[in-house]
Amino acid sequence: MIQDTKSNTAKWWQTGVIYQIYPLTFADANGDGIGDLQGIIEKLDYLNDGNPDSETSLGIDAIWLSPINQSPMIDNGYDVSDYYDINDQFGTLEDFEILLVEAHKRGIKVILDLVINHTSNQHSWFLESSSSKDNSKSDWYHWQDPAPDGGVPNNWLSYFGGTGWTYNEARKQYYYHSFNNNQPDINWGNSQVKEEIFQMIRFWLDKGVDGFRLDASSVYSKDKYYRYNPVKFDANDQKKYNNQHHLYNKNLPENHQIIREIRTIIDEYQERVLIGETFIDSTLYESAIFYGINNDELHLPFTFEFPFSPWYPGYLQQEIAKKELITPQAAWASYFLDNHDIPRHLSRWVECSLCTNQLGIAQAAAAILLTVRGTPILYYGQEIGMVDNEDIPREKIQDKIVIRSETEELPETRDGARTPMQWNDSFNAGFSFGKNVEPWLPVHQNYTEVNVDRELKDPDSILNFYRKLIQARKQNEALRIGNWRTLIYYPYEHLAYVRETKAERVLIVINFSYEKDLTIDEYISQDNWQVLVSNVREANKIINLPTTLQPFEVSILRK
Ligand code: NOJ
Ligand code: CA
Repeated sequence: MIQDTKSNTAKWWQTGVIYQIYPLTFADANGDGIGDLQGIIEKLDYLNDGNPDSETSLGIDAIWLSPINQSPMIDNGYDVSDYYDINDQFGTLEDFEILLVEAHKRGIKVILDLVINHTSNQHSWFLESSSSKDNSKSDWYHWQDPAPDGGVPNNWLSYFGGTGWTYNEARKQYYYHSFNNNQPDINWGNSQVKEEIFQMIRFWLDKGVDGFRLDASSVYSKDKYYRYNPVKFDANDQKKYNNQHHLYNKNLPENHQIIREIRTIIDEYQERVLIGETFIDSTLYESAIFYGINNDELHLPFTFEFPFSPWYPGYLQQEIAKKELITPQAAWASYFLDNHDIPRHLSRWVECSLCTNQLGIAQAAAAILLTVRGTPILYYGQEIGMVDNEDIPREKIQDKIVIRSETEELPETRDGARTPMQWNDSFNAGFSFGKNVEPWLPVHQNYTEVNVDRELKDPDSILNFYRKLIQARKQNEALRIGNWRTLIYYPYEHLAYVRETKAERVLIVINFSYEKDLTIDEYISQDNWQVLVSNVREANKIINLPTTLQPFEVSILRK
């Protein structure tokens, strides 16, 4: 029996599409080469102009902004020095308030990145805490005495590689940082700092933000005895984060208690969402714990099944099927292909960016993301098929974390996936009009081909494909809230699955290869399918189920 998620009880964060903006490179309104809030405001109509039949708007429902708080920008905003203020490069608090109003006018919700595992080492809390052993904030961070030989207190590592401990001369102690040494971890065991953070969360909720994406939300708590983590059995590189079992600095019971408390605050307000990045060395199963035993933690754990999958139908299907199984009955999944920390999917999944089937892969990937059961999260530029800029000269790298890393084997720069949004074929791809300044990162050289203006005019562009998929979701409840069921048990070169409610059934077929027969392992009626979206079949036409699939066909059909 089909157990529907009721259409009328579904929340906006379940039925909507979320769009991640990397503010530094989305749109620069004042011409200094750096994206800003005013730039985002000017592009809101592109994201959603409030008209459901719009020909020029993507139609998304919410934006998630990577951090916009005051920051020395060593980790480009993931190192906050003032939670109550906006980074000068982006604008002012007033600009943010205008952004909120303008977004809400168009039906766009606004989600902020909340970086509360750590602060910047320039935050006043840390400046005070690190100044001496006896100040009012002395244990707001994780301070430990050196080991008897003067070395680090234990074997905990930084996610970016190397030890997670940095020595401080004034205190003659080490502090722990899960990430870079300019990002000291907050001591959540201290009730005062906890209260400060809760107050700050209320400040933004009172302003009207619609939710948060909790950065690094699985590593808030630390073992109070600072015990050594066991090293993995076959680990040779002892400086690599993933070579330890993070028994004592990740996913502790207290971590869940903190998220429950944050959720309680969120629930005091109407219709807000709590998303959390739970992946840090976590499996999908571990991430599912973050819904909470009583569904009282995250609304949407942010997990990396598609980013970590190869482009292979059977593998992708297995990931979807697993997620279907582990998502608790009353909970809801989310999916994404790209974000600011990983190479864009067309760079991950296509050998060369000019391969002839690149459009096919982009269409197939978009269709999967927008037709599985869960909230899709898009990353700016993916809708126009942006690929990584792999030619950024070393002197132009902005991902300073990479430059500062202490490990021998340098982590890859994340800049390739953070280059300016390609709006049109004019100077700087329309990202910035500044003539005498360089954009924050170099624009990808393919911008004359790959850009919003050009693609809006081309009915077969990937951008228009995304627009149609998003519209189809809006118009068909099965795509928003229906159950997911595969029709092929061992997919090889194509996928076929249905989304269905009691009232409606939608069939999705995706061919990963050249022409072939459509094989389905289960009986399904053949006639009277209406084409909702397809890259090879005419929209709205009523057809019989095709027996042969076209090369790289993506078709979404409704009964
Ligand atoms: C995860 C963020 O997505 C990443 O960009 C950042 O470097 C780390 N957390 C540290 O905040
Ligand atoms: Ca600017």
